[in-house]
Amino acid sequence: MDGADVAKRNTSKCCWMVLNAQVYDVTSYLDQHPGGAAILLAQGGRDATIEFSRIHSPDVLQYLPTGSLLGPIDTSTIGALAPPTNEEALRSLPTGEGLRHLSKCVVTGDFEVAAKMMLPARSWSYVSSSSNSGLSMAANLDSWSAVRFRPRVLRDVQTVSTVSSILGHRCPFPFYISPMGILGRAHANAEVELVRGFRRSGIHGVISTVSTKTTEEIASSLTEALERHDDSRDVSAAPQLHFQLYTSPDREAAIKLIHRVKAAGFRSLWVTVDTPVLGKRTIDRRQLAEEALAMGSDEQARAAGLGIVTHVRQNQVSASLAWTDLEWIKKEWGGPLVVKGIQCAEDAKLAMDYGCQGILLSNHGGRQLHSAPDALSTLLEIRAYCPEVLGNLEVFVDGGLRDGADVLKALCLGAKGVGVGRPFFYALAAYGTRGVERCIEILAEELATAMRLVGITSLDQVHPDLVNARRLANEIWRPLDSRL
Ligand code: HEM
Ligand SMILES: Cc1cc2nc3c(=O)[nH]c(=O)nc-3n(C[C@H](O)[C@H](O)[C@H](O)COP(=O)(O)O)c2cc1C
Repeated sequence: MDGADVAKRNTSKCCWMVLNAQVYDVTSYLDQHPGGAAILLAQGGRDATIEFSRIHSPDVLQYLPTGSLLGPIDTSTIGALAPPTNEEALRSLPTGEGLRHLSKCVVTGDFEVAAKMMLPARSWSYVSSSSNSGLSMAANLDSWSAVRFRPRVLRDVQTVSTVSSILGHRCPFPFYISPMGILGRAHANAEVELVRGFRRSGIHGVISTVSTKTTEEIASSLTEALERHDDSRDVSAAPQLHFQLYTSPDREAAIKLIHRVKAAGFRSLWVTVDTPVLGKRTIDRRQLAEEALAMGSDEQARAAGLGIVTHVRQNQVSASLAWTDLEWIKKEWGGPLVVKGIQCAEDAKLAMDYGCQGILLSNHGGRQLHSAPDALSTLLEIRAYCPEVLGNLEVFVDGGLRDGADVLKALCLGAKGVGVGRPFFYALAAYGTRGVERCIEILAEELATAMRLVGITSLDQVHPDLVNARRLANEIWRPLDSRL
């Protein structure tokens, strides 16, 4: 196909674009595109390959209606295409201010400041967005400050070990990197850049179903990073990847994905259950509406503001997912299963009854239900009403943990491990792999220091008496009808 011909097709009546040297007609997909029509229209008549790869894995092309692929572009005519738009160009730093030197990032909050300075508005709204008024996210951040330590002194804390394990796999710390979708919004090299940051420390990470790179590419980039730097590390502490599953309502598609994940060597499957539908992402909606208005589409803007255009593909999350589905998921997966998004003691117990190996107490970083419980409250409920869960399952928590000391608090109250999300998105966005490494180092150092200051030297010494557990227990929610 001829570049000059493609260049003319840039309206909502006829919109073509080049992706990986192929010409696509996306006209009939404009209204269905979960990222909104405006962003596609802006790529009309251009080579959108770079921008596309910042957001999507090639897997999403399967969602285009049949017949959208028109054929290869005649490479000698590429110069006739409209010039590519490049979101990177929007990454401008305020005059006079540069990116803070990485050595000056000393708490995880420093990455947020750095990322905010340089992320384009759309990427910033994507990561910082929370549901409705933002209450769930704010409560997550506040919750951990309610926990105070009761340190023991004079205990010889010269040498400490932060070594732990996740589902039988040794890891250097009791924290891991939470799954976050569309990391192309943080960094052009997305998940590949993220997992390279796991190499030095041996940390574990959970990879999202909606990653920008393919499952196989992410797994092999970690293997390659390890091989390239064969620094005779302790192999028992090699970094490990786990996979977060959004269960497609199309069971065949879900099974196919589970098998791909298994073949790629992921260690465990974390099934997200707090997202039968997408929560109300307020900042995102404003951003999408603004973009649609800028493209002159009032109708699209109206729909975006009401969440009718969402960022989640229709066949990505299933509103009909139920407990019994865990049975076939478990069978197809055949390995350790974690339920991600448990928010009360009753469901924690159910997960145990369904034979899961782990649960993650999480409200999705405050991005789903408005006024959702923070993970600390759910952990305290479990301690009060079904403590046997803590003995039988690996219980993980996430949401608002920003300091290695927060990690220690969660462990004292019975958590096996802690997920950290946004700080790693911000670190990746601002500094790439080196930012990820630095963020791990900061959390690790804070954890080791907190351990010494409360008087323990290894994680098998954590105990509820090291925090104000009794006072916290008085404040927990008591179900009116306790049939746990
Ligand atoms: C033409 C083929 C395309 C298809 C089939 C497609 C499909 C999709 C799908 C299924 C989603 C939902 C999220 C996901 O599943 O990953 C999505 C979201 C999105 N897409 Fe596309 N897309 C295409 C092209 C593009 C292009 C060229 C751009 C940008 C230049 C783009 C930008 C976005 C954005 C920004 C989102 C929302 C992600 C967010 O939450 O920030 N897409 N798209
Ligand atoms: C930008 C972003 C994308 C996310 N994407 C996913 C996802 O694809 N799947 C999922 O189960 N959880 C997702 N989450 C939720 C995280 O896994 C985790 O529960 C949450 O971020 C933890 O809270 P924190 O960010 O306060 O540490 C996402 C969170 C953020 C901030």
